[in-house]
Amino acid sequence: MAVSCGNVLSLILPAFLILLMFFFFFFFPPTVSRSQYFTIPLPYHPSSHVSSRIIPPPLSPSPAPEISPYATKKNNNNDKKKMSSGSSLEKTEADLAQARAAIHRAIRTRNYTSDRKETYVPAGSVYRNPLAFHQSHIEMVKRFKIWVYREGERPLFHVAPMKHIYGIEGQFMDELEVGDSPFLAREPDKAHAFFVPVSVAFIVDYVYKPVTDYRRDRLVRIVTDYIDTVARKYQFWNRSSGADHFMVSCHDWAPQVSHDDPKLYKNFIRVMCNANTSEGFEPRRDATLPEFNVNPSTLAPHPRSKVHPGERHILAFFAGGPHGLIRKLLFEHWKDKDSEVQVHEYLPKGQSYEAMMGRAKFCLCPSGYEVASPRLVESIQIGCIPVIISDHYPLPFEDVLDWSKFSVRIPVERIPDIKAILKAVSHRKYQELLKGVGTVRRHFVLNRPAEPFDALHMVLHSIWLRRLNLRLSWS
Ligand SMILES: *[C@@H]1O[C@H](CO)[C@@H](O)[C@H](O)[C@H]1NC(C)=O
Ligand SMILES: *[C@@H]1O[C@H](CO)[C@@H](O)[C@H](O)[C@H]1NC(C)=O
Ligand SMILES: *[C@@H]1O[C@H](CO)[C@@H](O)[C@H](O)[C@H]1NC(C)=O
Repeated sequence: MAVSCGNVLSLILPAFLILLMFFFFFFFPPTVSRSQYFTIPLPYHPSSHVSSRIIPPPLSPSPAPEISPYATKKNNNNDKKKMSSGSSLEKTEADLAQARAAIHRAIRTRNYTSDRKETYVPAGSVYRNPLAFHQSHIEMVKRFKIWVYREGERPLFHVAPMKHIYGIEGQFMDELEVGDSPFLAREPDKAHAFFVPVSVAFIVDYVYKPVTDYRRDRLVRIVTDYIDTVARKYQFWNRSSGADHFMVSCHDWAPQVSHDDPKLYKNFIRVMCNANTSEGFEPRRDATLPEFNVNPSTLAPHPRSKVHPGERHILAFFAGGPHGLIRKLLFEHWKDKDSEVQVHEYLPKGQSYEAMMGRAKFCLCPSGYEVASPRLVESIQIGCIPVIISDHYPLPFEDVLDWSKFSVRIPVERIPDIKAILKAVSHRKYQELLKGVGTVRRHFVLNRPAEPFDALHMVLHSIWLRRLNLRLSWS
C-alpha cells in the first residue's frame, strides 16, 4: 500500500470523532430521552481480532473504502487464500457501509430513498427516529442476507414449536428454513449474518422428557458442540468470534445456553423472549423477542376492540396465574378486590379474555416466572394500553420504538398505587397512547410469509441493526 499507517490514522481519527458525535443523534434525536443502546461505543482496539460493535466508519454517502481503516499493514499483506475470503467479506462490509450511508442521507435530507413503492412510511412520536428506522428497514429488505447453517439433525435443529407460547421461535425458524425467504443467502460467503438454527424449546421437549432432572448441562453441550462443529468446518465463526452469528429462542432456558461459557459466546447475538438484564441479557448485543401466544389454526391477530374508549368501564384488567414474585404482589393488593382494577386468577364465569381486554382502558402485563408476557402483544393487537410491570426487561424493538408513547410502565414497588397512577392519566394522554398503540400494531402481527414492518421483519431488523453496528477486521 502507498499510504502509510500513520497517514491513515491521521485521516481516520478526526473522521472518527465527527462520526462519534453524529452517531449519538442517529437513533436518538436530542428530543427523546436516550437509552443506552448504540450510543456508547466500545473502546477501539485496532489490534483485536474483532472490533465488535464499534462505530461504523463510513459517514459520507460514498461506498466504503477498499481497505478497511482498521486493517493494519500486516493485514494488507494477506496471502492469496485469506485475500479471497477477505474480498467477499469486503463486499458484505461495503453493503453495510452503503446502508449506513443511506440512513445518514435520509436523516440529512429528511426523506427516504427506495427502489420500490413504499407501502408504509413510519411517522409519529412512537418512533425514536422514524426516518432512520424507515431507511434502515428499506436497506434491510434490499440487502440483508442470512446464512442458515445446514448442520444438525431435526428435531433439535431446524424445527421449533410453531404454536402456543413459544410459537414465535418456530415461526421465525420456519420462515428461514422453508427456503423461499428473500433474506436467505445462497452461499455463506454472501451472508451478512449467520443463523444457528437451534431450538431450545425442542431440546427441552425431546432431550429432557421424561423429566429426570433439570440440569442444564445437556442443553449447553448440544449447542456448544454445534458451534464447535461449524467453527471447525467454516471460517465464519472464528472470523468474527461469533459476532455476526445469532440464535432465536422464546424458551425460558435460552439464556442458559451461553451462560457457562461467556468467553465463547461473548459476541453471539441472542434473540430471546427471556430478556432479563439481571441474567446477562445485554441489550446492545442481544435483542428482545416478543412473546406471542400463537394460535395453532390461524396467525390472525386478535381483532381490535370496537368498544369506544368512553365506554370502557374497566380501568385495568388482568387474568392469569399467580406465577412469580411480581404477580404475587399484584394479587396481594388487587385480586378480586376492585371493580375498576380487575385482577383475577380465573376469569369471571362466561367472560372471554379477549372481550374483557377490549372493555378495559389499560391491560396489566406483569412479568410471570420470566420477564416476558404474551399480554404485551395481545393488548397492542386488541387496542388496550399495555401497563408494563417488570424489572430488568428491555422491551421488544426498543431500538426503534419509544414505548413511553404507547404504554405505561409501573415500577414493581408501586403496585399498590396502580389505580391512582392510571386514574391520573389525562384523557388527552390516554387518547395519545391509544393512537400510539394503533400505530405500532402492525409491528406486533405475524404473517407468513413475513411482510414489511410486521413482527418477523421487526425481529430481523433487530438483528440487522446489531450487524450494522459491527465492523469486522480480519487478520
Ligand atoms: C420523498 O421521497 C419519495 C420517494 O423517494 C418521493 O416520492 C417524495 O415526494 C419525497 N418527499 C419529499 C417531501 O420530498
Ligand atoms: C477456529 O478456531 C478453533 C479454536 O481455535 C479451531 O479449532 C478451528 O479449527 C478454527 N476453525 C477454522 C476453520 O480454522
Ligand atoms: C430476572 O433475574 C433476576 C436475577 O436472576 C431474578 O431475581 C428475577 O426474578 C428475574 N426476573 C423475572 C421476572 O424472572
